[in-house]
Amino acid sequence: MKEKIHIFDTTLRDGEQSPGASLNIYEKLEIAHQLAKLNVDVIEAGFPVSSPAQFDAVHAIASEVDKIITGLSRANEKDIDAAYKALNPASKKRIHTFTSTSDYHIIGKFGHEKYGRSLEEKRKTILKMTYDSVAYAKSLCDDIEYSAEDAGRTDIGYLAEIIEAAIEAGANVVNIPDTTGYTLPTEFGQKIKELKNRVSNINDAIISVHCHNDLGLAVANSIASLENGARQIECTVNGIGERAGNASLEEIVMALKVRGDLFQFDTEINTKEIYNTSKLVSGFTGILVQRNKAIVGENAFAHESGIHQDGMLKNRDTYEIMTPELVGYPSTKIVLGRHSGRHGLKARLTQIGYNLSDDKLAKVYESFTKLADKKKEVFDDDLRILMGDEITQTNENISLDHLQITSGTKSIPTAVVRIKVEDDIIQESSVGDGPIDAAFNAIERALKINPQVESYNVRSVTSGRQALGEVLVRIRSNSKSFTGRGISTDVIEASALAYISALNKKNAYYKLNKESENKEELTKAV
Ligand code: KIV
Ligand code: ZN
Repeated sequence: MKEKIHIFDTTLRDGEQSPGASLNIYEKLEIAHQLAKLNVDVIEAGFPVSSPAQFDAVHAIASEVDKIITGLSRANEKDIDAAYKALNPASKKRIHTFTSTSDYHIIGKFGHEKYGRSLEEKRKTILKMTYDSVAYAKSLCDDIEYSAEDAGRTDIGYLAEIIEAAIEAGANVVNIPDTTGYTLPTEFGQKIKELKNRVSNINDAIISVHCHNDLGLAVANSIASLENGARQIECTVNGIGERAGNASLEEIVMALKVRGDLFQFDTEINTKEIYNTSKLVSGFTGILVQRNKAIVGENAFAHESGIHQDGMLKNRDTYEIMTPELVGYPSTKIVLGRHSGRHGLKARLTQIGYNLSDDKLAKVYESFTKLADKKKEVFDDDLRILMGDEITQTNENISLDHLQITSGTKSIPTAVVRIKVEDDIIQESSVGDGPIDAAFNAIERALKINPQVESYNVRSVTSGRQALGEVLVRIRSNSKSFTGRGISTDVIEASALAYISALNKKNAYYKLNKESENKEELTKAV
């Protein structure tokens, strides 16, 4: 019997902190349901105190998804209360609280002398804060996780002291994050081993690790920690997260499975759901998976050279250490088309992970037939896009009613747009450096706005001349970024749709959080 490694998924919390990855509540719920299908052990659903939108999303996931649901909180009663309230509907809930423990963080974040004059005094203050906050959280909830932020760069003696205090105060999971992705595998493994030796009550808690990927070592560090006593790994789908991201769930899970000959432990992940989960997360976050990404990249199971193809035909083991089927990678491409019926559509959607009520199916079937009229062949990725739009398209008060573009080698690119804003129709036109610039200018004129467009990406979703074009537009407002997605067989229309979708996401965010978009400027003015 192998020992179980708990998989703590933080795609919806740390993963969502990736620049531009903001997800709305419907998208988060859909991802959380898929994570449950993947059979992760814990879902970190957000940081409830940070905004009303975060609170509502954690609450909704706690109400609907039957897994251990957790929410992050800093070490104070206000944060912990918000997390507890948001998690309340969950049948299995965990409060996750953290303090900063490295000297870098203590000096950087606790510089004020109210926390102590010397480093020694500040460390004592943080030790007490840790004990008090964990004890307070424990008074509300049985399952408490404590994280020592920047543990990777924390002095081992102090780290041992603080972990011991957290366990004494009631933490049943103690997390050792390599917050800055600084450590190397042997060093990180040694840190876990030292904690096992130094912390007298360590056997009363599960050791967890949470590695960032700044040196590309997050997965290697996580695995090194298992060999030294860790039994929970925190990770994200596709490895998304702050900066270079977090340890990638699929790489850890498959490393343990494929090299099961070396490990006495395994996870309970349903590996056949890995590919669908990866697609769902990249679709909603707009963070594309690089083609050569291990396990889930488009090339992960492609064999290009003649020698490799020949070897594969004779025996798959020659160049394949795991089968694509094991991670749910489609072995054959099923194609639907204009003659496919509702039944066929439903069956295919179920196979790629969507279970629809009859009402929803009727709506999706309508969009499907429109698409099938434009495109002869409808692939799985087209269906994912249809489904994504179905889930995301909520409260969109700005929509594109009409777009007309004039462009050519000798003409000035010009766009005419008609935009619907709730019940009003606004028409405007503009020229630009190219047809897309002209369309964006016309939209900005119509709405009297001028946001900063941070990035623009276009790609074809499926192959062939009739491929759907997918455009991702990221705009910035104050310190937040919003990514909109547009899909069409016409990439200029897709661009306009993506821009409008980003604007809708931004507006929904400010509305939900009851914040003014000009908050920063207003604060400065006061
Ligand atoms: O990277 C980190 O330290 C974190 C903690 C809050 C767990 O995300
Ligand atoms: Zn993190």
